[in-house]
Amino acid sequence: MLKNTFSVLLVLLVVCVAGLDAIAWSAEKQRLGNKVNAPSLTVLADKRLQDPLVMITDEYSRLTGFPISLRLLSVPEVNTLVKKKETGADVAICMPVPAGSKTSLDLLQGTKTVAWEYPSMEPVKAAVLTMHPEAARFVRFAGGPIGHRLWSESSMGFTITPDTSAKAYEWVAEHRVKHTYPLTAMRMLAECGGINDGICIDVGCGLGHLEIELAKRSDFTIKGLDIDPEAKPLFEKRIREAGLQDRVSFVLGDAQDMPFPDDYADVIVSRGTLVFIPDIAKCLREVDRVLKPSGVAFLGGRYIYTPEPCKISTAKLRGIVYKSGVAGAQVISELGQWVKIIGPEAPKAAQEFQGGPHMIANRFVADFGITQGKALLICQRDTMLQQAVQQGFVNTTNLEITALYASEEVAAQAEERIRQGKLASRIRCRAGGLRALPFKDASFDLVAGVGPVLLMEKDREKAMREIYRVLRPGGAALVGGKYLYMADDRKVSTESLRRNAASTGIASIRVYDDVGQWVEVRKGIRDEDGP
Ligand SMILES: C[S@@+](CC[C@H](N)C(=O)[O-])C[C@H]1O[C@@H](n2cnc3c(N)ncnc32)[C@H](O)[C@@H]1O
Repeated sequence: MLKNTFSVLLVLLVVCVAGLDAIAWSAEKQRLGNKVNAPSLTVLADKRLQDPLVMITDEYSRLTGFPISLRLLSVPEVNTLVKKKETGADVAICMPVPAGSKTSLDLLQGTKTVAWEYPSMEPVKAAVLTMHPEAARFVRFAGGPIGHRLWSESSMGFTITPDTSAKAYEWVAEHRVKHTYPLTAMRMLAECGGINDGICIDVGCGLGHLEIELAKRSDFTIKGLDIDPEAKPLFEKRIREAGLQDRVSFVLGDAQDMPFPDDYADVIVSRGTLVFIPDIAKCLREVDRVLKPSGVAFLGGRYIYTPEPCKISTAKLRGIVYKSGVAGAQVISELGQWVKIIGPEAPKAAQEFQGGPHMIANRFVADFGITQGKALLICQRDTMLQQAVQQGFVNTTNLEITALYASEEVAAQAEERIRQGKLASRIRCRAGGLRALPFKDASFDLVAGVGPVLLMEKDREKAMREIYRVLRPGGAALVGGKYLYMADDRKVSTESLRRNAASTGIASIRVYDDVGQWVEVRKGIRDEDGP
Protein backbone atom coordinates (compact mmCIF):
# COMPACT_ATOMS: atom_id res chain seq x y z
CA MET A 1 0.00 0.00 0.00
CA LEU A 2 2.75 2.35 1.13
CA LYS A 3 4.77 1.34 -1.92
CA ASN A 4 1.78 2.07 -4.21
CA THR A 5 1.20 5.48 -2.63
CA PHE A 6 4.87 6.25 -3.05
CA SER A 7 4.76 5.26 -6.74
CA VAL A 8 1.72 7.46 -7.35
CA LEU A 9 3.45 10.39 -5.63
CA LEU A 10 6.57 9.78 -7.66
CA VAL A 11 4.60 9.73 -10.92
CA LEU A 12 2.79 12.93 -9.87
CA LEU A 13 6.12 14.56 -9.06
CA VAL A 14 7.59 13.59 -12.44
CA VAL A 15 4.46 14.85 -14.23
CA CYS A 16 4.60 18.11 -12.24
CA VAL A 17 8.30 18.64 -12.99
CA ALA A 18 7.74 17.87 -16.68
CA GLY A 19 4.73 20.20 -16.62
CA LEU A 20 6.74 22.98 -14.99
CA ASP A 21 9.46 22.46 -17.60
CA ALA A 22 6.90 22.72 -20.38
CA ILE A 23 5.41 25.88 -18.82
CA ALA A 24 8.88 27.43 -18.40
CA TRP A 25 9.74 26.49 -21.97
CA SER A 26 6.59 27.93 -23.45
CA ALA A 27 6.94 31.09 -21.30
CA GLU A 28 10.48 31.49 -22.56
CA LYS A 29 9.37 31.04 -26.17
CA GLN A 30 6.78 33.76 -25.68
CA ARG A 31 9.18 36.09 -23.92
CA LEU A 32 11.99 35.66 -26.39
CA GLY A 33 9.77 35.40 -29.40
CA ASN A 34 11.34 32.11 -30.54
CA LYS A 35 9.54 30.68 -33.53
CA VAL A 36 9.86 27.07 -32.44
CA ASN A 37 6.79 24.96 -33.05
CA ALA A 38 8.37 21.57 -33.48
CA PRO A 39 8.46 19.07 -30.64
CA SER A 40 11.78 18.37 -28.96
CA LEU A 41 14.51 16.74 -31.01
CA THR A 42 15.18 13.08 -30.22
CA VAL A 43 18.73 11.81 -30.56
CA LEU A 44 19.32 8.06 -30.47
CA ALA A 45 22.94 7.28 -29.67
CA ASP A 46 25.52 4.65 -28.89
CA LYS A 47 25.60 4.50 -25.08
CA ARG A 48 29.42 4.62 -25.04
CA LEU A 49 29.09 8.24 -26.23
CA GLN A 50 27.03 9.32 -23.23
CA ASP A 51 29.69 11.60 -21.69
CA PRO A 52 30.37 13.84 -24.74
CA LEU A 53 26.78 13.72 -26.03
CA VAL A 54 25.27 14.87 -22.73
CA MET A 55 27.62 17.89 -22.88
CA ILE A 56 26.85 18.56 -26.56
CA THR A 57 23.05 18.21 -26.32
CA ASP A 58 22.99 20.34 -23.13
CA GLU A 59 25.02 23.07 -24.82
CA TYR A 60 22.83 22.98 -27.93
CA SER A 61 19.72 23.40 -25.77
CA ARG A 62 21.37 26.18 -23.77
CA LEU A 63 22.35 28.12 -26.85
CA THR A 64 19.21 27.63 -28.92
CA GLY A 65 16.63 27.14 -26.17
CA PHE A 66 15.62 23.99 -28.04
CA PRO A 67 15.00 20.85 -25.93
CA ILE A 68 16.70 17.59 -26.92
CA SER A 69 15.95 14.17 -25.57
CA LEU A 70 18.88 11.77 -25.68
CA ARG A 71 18.20 8.02 -25.83
CA LEU A 72 21.21 5.77 -25.26
CA LEU A 73 21.36 2.15 -26.43
CA SER A 74 24.00 -0.41 -27.36
CA VAL A 75 25.33 -0.30 -30.94
CA PRO A 76 23.56 -3.57 -31.98
CA GLU A 77 20.29 -2.10 -30.68
CA VAL A 78 20.87 1.18 -32.57
CA ASN A 79 21.74 -0.80 -35.71
CA THR A 80 18.61 -2.93 -35.52
CA LEU A 81 16.30 0.04 -34.97
CA VAL A 82 17.91 2.03 -37.80
CA LYS A 83 17.63 -0.92 -40.20
CA LYS A 84 13.97 -1.46 -39.30
CA LYS A 85 13.33 2.32 -39.49
CA GLU A 86 11.88 2.07 -35.99
CA THR A 87 14.16 4.43 -34.09
CA GLY A 88 11.49 7.00 -33.24
CA ALA A 89 14.43 9.45 -33.33
CA ASP A 90 15.36 12.42 -35.51
CA VAL A 91 19.12 11.86 -35.35
CA ALA A 92 21.22 8.73 -34.76
CA ILE A 93 24.87 8.79 -33.64
CA CYS A 94 27.23 5.86 -33.15
CA MET A 95 30.71 4.36 -33.47
CA PRO A 96 31.28 0.96 -35.05
CA VAL A 97 31.56 -2.32 -33.11
CA PRO A 98 33.91 -4.07 -33.70
CA ALA A 99 36.35 -1.28 -34.45
CA GLY A 100 36.86 -0.74 -38.17
CA SER A 101 33.50 -2.31 -39.12
CA LYS A 102 30.49 -0.51 -40.59
CA THR A 103 27.37 0.63 -38.72
CA SER A 104 23.82 0.82 -40.01
CA LEU A 105 24.34 4.58 -40.39
CA ASP A 106 26.86 3.95 -43.17
CA LEU A 107 23.99 2.65 -45.31
CA LEU A 108 22.11 5.94 -45.04
CA GLN A 109 22.57 8.91 -47.34
CA GLY A 110 24.29 12.00 -45.96
CA THR A 111 25.81 10.32 -42.87
CA LYS A 112 28.60 12.53 -41.50
CA THR A 113 31.61 11.87 -39.31
CA VAL A 114 31.41 14.33 -36.43
CA ALA A 115 34.40 13.20 -34.33
CA TRP A 116 37.12 10.59 -33.98
CA GLU A 117 37.87 8.72 -30.77
CA TYR A 118 41.42 9.46 -29.65
CA PRO A 119 43.85 7.70 -29.98
CA SER A 120 41.98 4.77 -31.66
CA MET A 121 40.75 7.16 -34.42
CA GLU A 122 37.48 5.25 -34.63
CA PRO A 123 34.98 7.59 -36.39
CA VAL A 124 31.75 8.76 -34.73
CA LYS A 125 29.00 8.86 -37.35
CA ALA A 126 25.83 10.94 -37.24
CA ALA A 127 22.78 10.67 -39.51
CA VAL A 128 19.69 12.79 -39.89
CA LEU A 129 16.65 10.47 -39.86
CA THR A 130 13.69 12.84 -40.15
CA MET A 131 12.70 16.22 -41.58
CA HIS A 132 12.74 17.73 -38.08
CA PRO A 133 13.86 21.36 -38.59
CA GLU A 134 16.60 21.11 -35.95
CA ALA A 135 17.98 17.69 -36.97
CA ALA A 136 20.48 18.71 -39.66
CA ARG A 137 21.45 21.78 -37.64
CA PHE A 138 22.20 19.68 -34.58
CA VAL A 139 24.43 17.33 -36.62
CA ARG A 140 26.32 20.33 -38.01
CA PHE A 141 26.66 21.70 -34.47
CA ALA A 142 28.04 18.37 -33.18
CA GLY A 143 30.73 18.49 -35.88
CA GLY A 144 31.25 22.27 -35.66
CA PRO A 145 33.52 24.42 -33.48
CA ILE A 146 31.58 24.16 -30.21
CA GLY A 147 30.93 20.45 -30.73
CA HIS A 148 34.64 20.01 -31.46
CA ARG A 149 35.61 21.67 -28.19
CA LEU A 150 33.15 19.51 -26.23
CA TRP A 151 34.24 16.23 -27.87
CA SER A 152 37.82 17.23 -26.94
CA GLU A 153 36.81 17.98 -23.34
CA SER A 154 35.12 14.63 -22.87
CA SER A 155 37.02 12.36 -20.50
CA MET A 156 36.78 9.58 -23.13
CA GLY A 157 39.07 11.49 -25.48
CA PHE A 158 37.96 12.65 -28.91
CA THR A 159 39.31 14.79 -31.65
CA ILE A 160 37.87 16.20 -34.85
CA THR A 161 40.70 15.27 -37.13
CA PRO A 162 40.99 11.83 -38.61
CA ASP A 163 44.68 11.38 -37.81
CA THR A 164 47.58 13.22 -36.24
CA SER A 165 49.33 14.01 -39.51
CA ALA A 166 50.31 17.51 -40.56
CA LYS A 167 47.39 17.63 -43.03
CA ALA A 168 44.89 17.04 -40.24
CA TYR A 169 46.50 19.77 -38.18
CA GLU A 170 46.34 22.08 -41.20
CA TRP A 171 42.56 21.63 -41.11
CA VAL A 172 42.34 22.46 -37.39
CA ALA A 173 44.59 25.51 -37.77
CA GLU A 174 42.62 26.86 -40.73
CA HIS A 175 39.12 26.15 -39.39
CA ARG A 176 39.41 26.49 -35.67
CA VAL A 177 42.36 28.48 -34.37
CA LYS A 178 43.53 30.72 -37.20
CA HIS A 179 42.13 33.85 -35.52
CA THR A 180 44.21 33.23 -32.38
CA TYR A 181 47.72 33.29 -33.97
CA PRO A 182 48.00 37.13 -34.03
CA LEU A 183 46.92 37.24 -30.37
CA THR A 184 49.40 34.57 -29.36
CA ALA A 185 52.24 36.27 -31.23
CA MET A 186 51.44 39.60 -29.55
CA ARG A 187 51.31 38.02 -26.14
CA MET A 188 54.59 36.16 -26.68
CA LEU A 189 56.36 39.33 -27.77
CA ALA A 190 54.98 41.23 -24.77
CA GLU A 191 56.11 38.46 -22.41
CA CYS A 192 59.63 38.74 -23.88
CA GLY A 193 59.87 42.23 -22.46
CA GLY A 194 60.97 44.04 -25.61
CA ILE A 195 63.37 41.52 -27.20
CA ASN A 196 62.53 41.97 -30.84
CA ASP A 197 65.46 40.79 -32.94
CA GLY A 198 68.08 38.05 -33.10
CA ILE A 199 67.16 34.34 -33.21
CA CYS A 200 63.68 33.09 -32.28
CA ILE A 201 62.97 29.35 -32.15
CA ASP A 202 59.38 28.02 -32.27
CA VAL A 203 59.27 24.55 -30.72
CA GLY A 204 56.76 22.25 -32.48
CA CYS A 205 56.13 24.89 -35.13
CA GLY A 206 53.68 22.83 -37.16
CA LEU A 207 52.77 24.57 -40.39
CA GLY A 208 54.14 28.08 -39.88
CA HIS A 209 51.01 29.99 -38.85
CA LEU A 210 52.64 31.47 -35.74
CA GLU A 211 55.89 32.27 -37.59
CA ILE A 212 54.04 34.61 -39.96
CA GLU A 213 52.45 36.54 -37.10
CA LEU A 214 55.74 36.74 -35.16
CA ALA A 215 57.65 37.88 -38.26
CA LYS A 216 55.08 40.64 -38.99
CA ARG A 217 55.65 42.10 -35.54
CA SER A 218 59.42 41.70 -35.06
CA ASP A 219 62.82 41.61 -36.77
CA PHE A 220 63.60 38.03 -35.64
CA THR A 221 65.23 35.38 -37.77
CA ILE A 222 62.85 32.53 -36.97
CA LYS A 223 63.64 28.81 -36.84
CA GLY A 224 60.60 26.55 -36.74
CA LEU A 225 61.53 23.23 -35.09
CA ASP A 226 59.25 20.22 -35.60
CA ILE A 227 59.62 16.45 -35.31
CA ASP A 228 57.18 15.75 -38.15
CA PRO A 229 58.82 15.64 -41.62
CA GLU A 230 55.34 15.96 -43.20
CA ALA A 231 55.07 19.45 -41.71
CA LYS A 232 58.11 20.71 -43.67
CA PRO A 233 56.60 21.14 -47.19
CA LEU A 234 53.40 22.69 -45.80
CA PHE A 235 55.41 25.03 -43.55
CA GLU A 236 57.74 26.06 -46.38
CA LYS A 237 54.84 26.67 -48.81
CA ARG A 238 53.09 28.95 -46.32
CA ILE A 239 56.30 30.88 -45.58
CA ARG A 240 57.12 31.26 -49.31
CA GLU A 241 53.62 32.55 -50.00
CA ALA A 242 54.10 35.12 -47.23
CA GLY A 243 57.44 36.15 -48.82
CA LEU A 244 59.30 35.38 -45.58
CA GLN A 245 61.71 32.66 -46.78
CA ASP A 246 64.77 34.84 -46.06
CA ARG A 247 63.88 35.15 -42.39
CA VAL A 248 61.95 31.99 -41.54
CA SER A 249 63.14 28.38 -41.97
CA PHE A 250 62.09 24.87 -40.94
CA VAL A 251 64.39 22.65 -38.85
CA LEU A 252 63.56 18.96 -38.44
CA GLY A 253 64.24 17.77 -34.90
CA ASP A 254 63.07 16.70 -31.48
CA ALA A 255 62.30 19.24 -28.76
CA GLN A 256 63.88 16.85 -26.24
CA ASP A 257 67.22 16.92 -28.06
CA MET A 258 67.34 20.20 -29.93
CA PRO A 259 69.71 20.53 -32.92
CA PHE A 260 71.00 23.95 -31.81
CA PRO A 261 74.19 25.02 -29.94
CA ASP A 262 74.24 26.34 -26.35
CA ASP A 263 73.29 30.00 -25.81
CA TYR A 264 71.98 30.31 -29.35
CA ALA A 265 68.49 31.83 -29.19
CA ASP A 266 67.29 35.21 -27.99
CA VAL A 267 63.72 33.98 -27.67
CA ILE A 268 62.16 30.50 -27.64
CA VAL A 269 58.40 30.15 -28.02
CA SER A 270 55.97 27.29 -28.48
CA ARG A 271 52.21 26.98 -28.92
CA GLY A 272 49.95 23.94 -28.55
CA THR A 273 52.86 21.50 -28.37
CA LEU A 274 54.21 21.08 -24.83
CA VAL A 275 51.66 18.46 -23.67
CA PHE A 276 52.51 16.24 -26.67
CA ILE A 277 56.20 16.03 -25.73
CA PRO A 278 56.85 12.78 -23.85
CA ASP A 279 59.45 14.22 -21.45
CA ILE A 280 58.53 17.87 -20.83
CA ALA A 281 61.27 18.35 -18.21
CA LYS A 282 63.90 17.20 -20.71
CA CYS A 283 62.51 19.62 -23.29
CA LEU A 284 62.66 22.49 -20.75
CA ARG A 285 66.30 21.69 -19.94
CA GLU A 286 67.04 21.75 -23.67
CA VAL A 287 65.26 25.10 -24.03
CA ASP A 288 67.31 26.42 -21.12
CA ARG A 289 70.56 25.17 -22.68
CA VAL A 290 69.83 26.75 -26.09
CA LEU A 291 68.50 30.05 -24.65
CA LYS A 292 70.97 32.91 -24.21
CA PRO A 293 71.33 34.19 -20.60
CA SER A 294 69.71 37.39 -21.88
CA GLY A 295 66.80 35.46 -23.43
CA VAL A 296 63.20 34.60 -22.58
CA ALA A 297 61.20 31.46 -23.37
CA PHE A 298 57.39 31.29 -23.38
CA LEU A 299 55.88 27.89 -24.09
CA GLY A 300 52.32 26.59 -23.73
CA GLY A 301 48.81 27.17 -25.00
CA ARG A 302 45.14 26.90 -24.19
CA TYR A 303 44.77 23.35 -25.58
CA ILE A 304 41.10 23.91 -26.34
CA TYR A 305 40.96 21.25 -29.08
CA THR A 306 43.50 18.89 -27.50
CA PRO A 307 41.87 15.57 -26.53
CA GLU A 308 41.34 15.51 -22.77
CA PRO A 309 43.57 12.47 -22.03
CA CYS A 310 46.56 14.30 -23.58
CA LYS A 311 46.19 17.36 -21.34
CA ILE A 312 47.95 17.71 -18.01
CA SER A 313 46.82 19.64 -14.96
CA THR A 314 48.52 22.90 -14.04
CA ALA A 315 49.56 21.31 -10.71
CA LYS A 316 51.27 18.45 -12.57
CA LEU A 317 52.99 20.91 -14.89
CA ARG A 318 54.22 22.89 -11.87
CA GLY A 319 55.71 19.66 -10.48
CA ILE A 320 57.44 18.90 -13.79
CA VAL A 321 58.84 22.43 -14.02
CA TYR A 322 60.09 22.24 -10.44
CA LYS A 323 61.72 18.85 -10.98
CA SER A 324 63.32 19.99 -14.26
CA GLY A 325 65.63 22.12 -12.13
CA VAL A 326 65.55 24.97 -14.68
CA ALA A 327 66.29 28.18 -12.80
CA GLY A 328 64.00 31.08 -13.68
CA ALA A 329 61.20 28.79 -14.93
CA GLN A 330 57.64 29.45 -13.79
CA VAL A 331 54.14 28.34 -14.71
CA ILE A 332 51.62 31.00 -15.74
CA SER A 333 48.00 29.88 -15.84
CA GLU A 334 46.45 33.09 -17.14
CA LEU A 335 44.73 32.72 -20.53
CA GLY A 336 46.09 29.23 -21.00
CA GLN A 337 48.82 27.18 -19.41
CA TRP A 338 52.32 28.49 -20.04
CA VAL A 339 55.91 27.91 -18.92
CA LYS A 340 58.05 31.03 -18.89
CA ILE A 341 61.82 30.88 -18.54
CA ILE A 342 63.49 34.20 -17.84
CA GLY A 343 67.25 34.22 -18.41
CA PRO A 344 69.36 35.83 -15.64
CA GLU A 345 70.28 38.72 -17.95
CA ALA A 346 66.85 39.11 -19.59
CA PRO A 347 65.28 42.59 -19.82
CA LYS A 348 63.67 43.68 -16.58
CA ALA A 349 60.35 44.15 -18.40
CA ALA A 350 60.22 40.40 -19.04
CA GLN A 351 59.97 39.82 -15.30
CA GLU A 352 56.98 42.09 -14.92
CA PHE A 353 53.41 41.20 -15.85
CA GLN A 354 53.03 42.01 -19.51
CA GLY A 355 49.31 41.41 -19.89
CA GLY A 356 47.96 44.93 -19.86
CA PRO A 357 44.39 45.94 -20.64
CA HIS A 358 44.85 45.81 -24.43
CA MET A 359 45.28 42.07 -23.97
CA ILE A 360 41.73 41.81 -22.61
CA ALA A 361 40.53 41.91 -26.21
CA ASN A 362 42.31 38.56 -26.66
CA ARG A 363 39.82 36.88 -24.43
CA PHE A 364 36.85 37.97 -26.54
CA VAL A 365 38.54 37.19 -29.82
CA ALA A 366 39.93 33.81 -28.76
CA ASP A 367 36.77 32.59 -27.03
CA PHE A 368 34.21 33.56 -29.65
CA GLY A 369 36.26 33.63 -32.84
CA ILE A 370 34.31 36.72 -33.94
CA THR A 371 36.70 39.01 -35.80
CA GLN A 372 34.46 40.36 -38.60
CA GLY A 373 31.20 42.30 -38.55
CA LYS A 374 30.01 44.79 -35.94
CA ALA A 375 30.98 45.08 -32.31
CA LEU A 376 29.52 47.11 -29.50
CA LEU A 377 32.00 48.07 -26.77
CA ILE A 378 30.22 49.17 -23.63
CA CYS A 379 32.60 51.80 -22.27
CA GLN A 380 30.48 54.26 -20.21
CA ARG A 381 33.61 56.30 -19.33
CA ASP A 382 36.66 57.00 -21.48
CA THR A 383 39.31 55.67 -19.12
CA MET A 384 42.76 54.29 -19.98
CA LEU A 385 41.23 50.83 -19.58
CA GLN A 386 38.50 51.47 -22.15
CA GLN A 387 40.98 53.09 -24.54
CA ALA A 388 43.33 50.13 -24.25
CA VAL A 389 40.50 47.65 -24.86
CA GLN A 390 39.50 49.60 -27.98
CA GLN A 391 43.10 49.54 -29.21
CA GLY A 392 43.24 45.77 -28.57
CA PHE A 393 40.17 45.22 -30.77
CA VAL A 394 41.56 47.47 -33.50
CA ASN A 395 44.87 45.57 -33.48
CA THR A 396 43.44 42.07 -33.52
CA THR A 397 40.17 42.20 -35.48
CA ASN A 398 38.47 43.73 -38.50
CA LEU A 399 35.36 44.54 -36.49
CA GLU A 400 33.48 47.81 -37.06
CA ILE A 401 33.38 49.15 -33.51
CA THR A 402 30.71 51.24 -31.81
CA ALA A 403 31.83 52.57 -28.42
CA LEU A 404 28.95 53.34 -26.09
CA TYR A 405 29.35 56.10 -23.48
CA ALA A 406 27.18 57.16 -20.58
CA SER A 407 26.57 60.71 -21.87
CA GLU A 408 26.77 62.81 -25.03
CA GLU A 409 29.54 64.83 -23.42
CA VAL A 410 31.80 61.83 -22.77
CA ALA A 411 31.00 60.43 -26.21
CA ALA A 412 32.05 63.73 -27.84
CA GLN A 413 35.34 63.82 -25.89
CA ALA A 414 36.07 60.21 -26.80
CA GLU A 415 35.25 60.92 -30.45
CA GLU A 416 37.82 63.72 -30.51
CA ARG A 417 40.48 61.48 -28.94
CA ILE A 418 39.68 58.74 -31.45
CA ARG A 419 39.91 61.22 -34.34
CA GLN A 420 43.30 62.46 -33.14
CA GLY A 421 44.50 58.88 -32.73
CA LYS A 422 43.49 58.21 -36.38
CA LEU A 423 41.09 55.50 -35.34
CA ALA A 424 37.92 57.20 -36.60
CA SER A 425 37.62 54.77 -39.51
CA ARG A 426 37.38 51.89 -37.02
CA ILE A 427 35.52 53.30 -34.00
CA ARG A 428 32.43 55.50 -33.78
CA CYS A 429 30.95 56.78 -30.51
CA ARG A 430 27.38 56.81 -29.24
CA ALA A 431 25.78 57.82 -25.96
CA GLY A 432 23.24 55.66 -24.20
CA GLY A 433 22.45 53.43 -21.26
CA LEU A 434 22.46 49.69 -20.92
CA ARG A 435 18.83 49.53 -19.86
CA ALA A 436 17.66 50.98 -23.18
CA LEU A 437 20.40 50.44 -25.75
CA PRO A 438 20.00 52.95 -28.60
CA PHE A 439 20.23 50.28 -31.29
CA LYS A 440 17.85 48.15 -33.34
CA ASP A 441 17.40 44.46 -32.61
CA ALA A 442 20.15 42.20 -33.96
CA SER A 443 22.66 44.99 -34.64
CA PHE A 444 25.90 43.40 -33.39
CA ASP A 445 27.95 40.25 -33.82
CA LEU A 446 29.82 40.91 -30.60
CA VAL A 447 29.05 42.92 -27.46
CA ALA A 448 31.97 43.46 -25.10
CA GLY A 449 32.06 45.26 -21.79
CA VAL A 450 35.10 45.49 -19.56
CA GLY A 451 34.62 46.83 -16.05
CA PRO A 452 31.70 46.95 -13.64
CA VAL A 453 29.25 48.20 -16.27
CA LEU A 454 26.64 45.57 -15.39
CA LEU A 455 27.27 45.70 -11.66
CA MET A 456 26.42 49.41 -11.57
CA GLU A 457 23.06 48.88 -13.28
CA LYS A 458 20.00 49.11 -11.07
CA ASP A 459 18.02 46.79 -13.33
CA ARG A 460 20.56 44.17 -14.36
CA GLU A 461 17.97 41.84 -15.81
CA LYS A 462 16.76 44.53 -18.19
CA ALA A 463 20.36 45.27 -19.17
CA MET A 464 21.03 41.58 -19.87
CA ARG A 465 17.87 41.36 -21.99
CA GLU A 466 18.95 44.47 -23.90
CA ILE A 467 22.32 42.91 -24.65
CA TYR A 468 20.56 39.77 -25.90
CA ARG A 469 18.20 41.88 -28.03
CA VAL A 470 20.95 43.75 -29.90
CA LEU A 471 22.91 40.58 -30.67
CA ARG A 472 22.63 39.07 -34.11
CA PRO A 473 21.86 35.34 -34.40
CA GLY A 474 25.11 33.51 -33.73
CA GLY A 475 26.48 36.53 -31.86
CA ALA A 476 28.04 36.58 -28.42
CA ALA A 477 28.47 39.02 -25.56
CA LEU A 478 30.88 39.04 -22.64
CA VAL A 479 30.70 41.64 -19.92
CA GLY A 480 32.75 41.69 -16.74
CA GLY A 481 36.18 42.14 -15.28
CA LYS A 482 38.44 41.59 -12.32
CA TYR A 483 37.23 44.59 -10.28
CA LEU A 484 40.61 44.75 -8.50
CA TYR A 485 40.15 48.28 -7.25
CA MET A 486 36.43 48.20 -6.50
CA ALA A 487 35.23 48.63 -2.92
CA ASP A 488 33.88 45.37 -1.51
CA ASP A 489 30.48 46.84 -0.69
CA ARG A 490 29.95 47.73 -4.36
CA LYS A 491 30.80 44.26 -5.64
CA VAL A 492 28.03 41.79 -6.44
CA SER A 493 28.31 38.11 -5.66
CA THR A 494 28.43 35.65 -8.53
CA GLU A 495 25.39 33.92 -7.03
CA SER A 496 23.38 37.13 -7.14
CA LEU A 497 24.42 37.75 -10.77
CA ARG A 498 23.34 34.18 -11.54
CA ARG A 499 19.93 34.90 -10.02
CA ASN A 500 19.63 38.04 -12.19
CA ALA A 501 20.61 36.00 -15.25
CA ALA A 502 18.12 33.22 -14.45
CA SER A 503 15.24 35.65 -14.14
CA THR A 504 15.82 37.05 -17.64
CA GLY A 505 14.42 33.82 -19.05
CA ILE A 506 17.29 33.65 -21.55
CA ALA A 507 18.65 30.12 -21.53
CA SER A 508 22.00 31.01 -23.02
CA ILE A 509 23.30 33.32 -20.27
CA ARG A 510 26.20 32.02 -18.23
CA VAL A 511 27.83 33.73 -15.26
CA TYR A 512 31.28 32.50 -14.36
CA ASP A 513 34.38 33.27 -12.34
CA ASP A 514 37.52 32.81 -14.41
CA VAL A 515 40.20 35.45 -13.96
CA GLY A 516 37.42 37.88 -13.06
CA GLN A 517 33.65 37.69 -12.97
CA TRP A 518 31.95 37.48 -16.35
CA VAL A 519 28.48 37.38 -17.81
CA GLU A 520 28.34 35.63 -21.16
CA VAL A 521 25.32 35.84 -23.44
CA ARG A 522 25.04 33.94 -26.68
CA LYS A 523 22.30 34.11 -29.24
CA GLY A 524 21.76 30.78 -30.95
CA ILE A 525 24.58 29.15 -32.81
CA ARG A 526 26.69 29.96 -35.78
CA ASP A 527 25.81 27.37 -38.33
CA GLU A 528 29.20 26.00 -39.22
CA ASP A 529 30.08 22.66 -40.65
CA GLY A 530 32.63 20.21 -39.33
CA PRO A 531 35.37 18.60 -41.44
C1 LIG B 1 49.12 20.81 -32.14
S1 LIG B 1 50.47 21.02 -33.18
C2 LIG B 1 50.85 22.74 -32.96
C3 LIG B 1 51.58 23.32 -34.12
C4 LIG B 1 51.91 24.81 -34.03
N1 LIG B 1 52.70 25.12 -32.89
C5 LIG B 1 50.69 25.68 -34.07
O1 LIG B 1 50.26 26.15 -33.02
O2 LIG B 1 50.14 25.91 -35.15
C6 LIG B 1 51.78 20.23 -32.30
C7 LIG B 1 53.07 20.14 -33.08
O3 LIG B 1 54.10 19.66 -32.22
C8 LIG B 1 54.95 18.81 -32.96
N2 LIG B 1 55.68 17.95 -32.02
C9 LIG B 1 55.17 16.98 -31.22
N3 LIG B 1 56.16 16.42 -30.50
C10 LIG B 1 57.31 17.05 -30.82
C11 LIG B 1 58.65 16.94 -30.40
N4 LIG B 1 59.03 16.02 -29.51
N5 LIG B 1 59.56 17.76 -30.93
C12 LIG B 1 59.21 18.70 -31.85
N6 LIG B 1 57.94 18.85 -32.29
C13 LIG B 1 57.00 18.05 -31.78
C14 LIG B 1 53.97 18.07 -33.87
O4 LIG B 1 54.62 17.48 -34.97
C15 LIG B 1 53.00 19.18 -34.25
O5 LIG B 1 53.42 19.85 -35.42
